[in-house]
Amino acid sequence: MNENNKNTNDNNAVSAGGVSAERLRELGGGEFLRLRNLRAGYGKTEILHGLDLFLGRGRSLCLIGPNGAGKSTVLHGIFGLADRLGGEVSLDGGDIGGLSPEQKLRRAKIAYILQDSSIFPEMTVEENLIMGGYVLPGAEDAREQTERIFAKYGRLAARREKRAGTLSGGERRLLEISRALMTDPVLLLVDEPSIGLEPRYIGMVFDILAGLQSEGMTIVLVEQNAKKGLAFADIGYVLVAGNLAMADTGKNLLENPEVGRLFLGG
Ligand SMILES: Nc1ncnc2c1ncn2[C@@H]1O[C@H](COP(=O)(O)OP(=O)(O)OP(=O)(O)O)[C@@H](O)[C@H]1O
Ligand SMILES: [Mg+2]
Repeated sequence: MNENNKNTNDNNAVSAGGVSAERLRELGGGEFLRLRNLRAGYGKTEILHGLDLFLGRGRSLCLIGPNGAGKSTVLHGIFGLADRLGGEVSLDGGDIGGLSPEQKLRRAKIAYILQDSSIFPEMTVEENLIMGGYVLPGAEDAREQTERIFAKYGRLAARREKRAGTLSGGERRLLEISRALMTDPVLLLVDEPSIGLEPRYIGMVFDILAGLQSEGMTIVLVEQNAKKGLAFADIGYVLVAGNLAMADTGKNLLENPEVGRLFLGG
């Protein structure tokens, strides 16, 4: 048994960055999503070295940290796109560590919005949404869900017949988020929602996420724009070289001088 594994069995164990699991549990306001000593990577390369994460239902958590710290790998680890080398991932009390991404989508109701744009530019807005509902049981379900989304986001409804490639950056991001909603997820994983967007659209994207959270959605996001991400999220984790360096409320991290100096450009 190595050092990391020893920590798993002790609920009061101190995580690699010095934040105790107890503190993380308290901060998270619940354990709807729980990672315990997660080690994950690609092939044999370990990127995350024993991460603990606790998040209550309907809460939001933002991961910040330098390039290559492993932020996207946390989302990959939850969704099943990275190799799990040790530790546990559970959702709503059930172990989901062994599920494939498809099972995560269908059974565990987790949706993942990729860092790189994943819409089909030649297809219409409506066709893109229907593609997002491919795991739904029937074509009729996908249609109904599409209509629900159009009823919610008039801006998309007005463009339903347009090719997705002709949308503005903000509308495209709205389509990406909406497409992930087709499966009625309970947990939304979002990688860099503000990347590549003009400032006027960034607020819009966070407003959309805030709206979803107010409806009860649990959200884990990664943000390069740490100011916006921490202002949005209930909880912030700072990841450095695959380890948790700091964790606090989003608000406290925003006001933390060290975080300011390293990640907020001030
Ligand atoms: N699919 C993959 N296969 C192999 N290595 C990968 C893969 N994805 C990421 N890595 C490696 O894992 C490490 C962490 O990458 P990750 O993408 O999680 O970082 P990040 O914090 O999201 O960085 P960024 O801010 O640049 O998006 C990097 O060294 C990266 O090269
Ligand atoms: Mg990334």
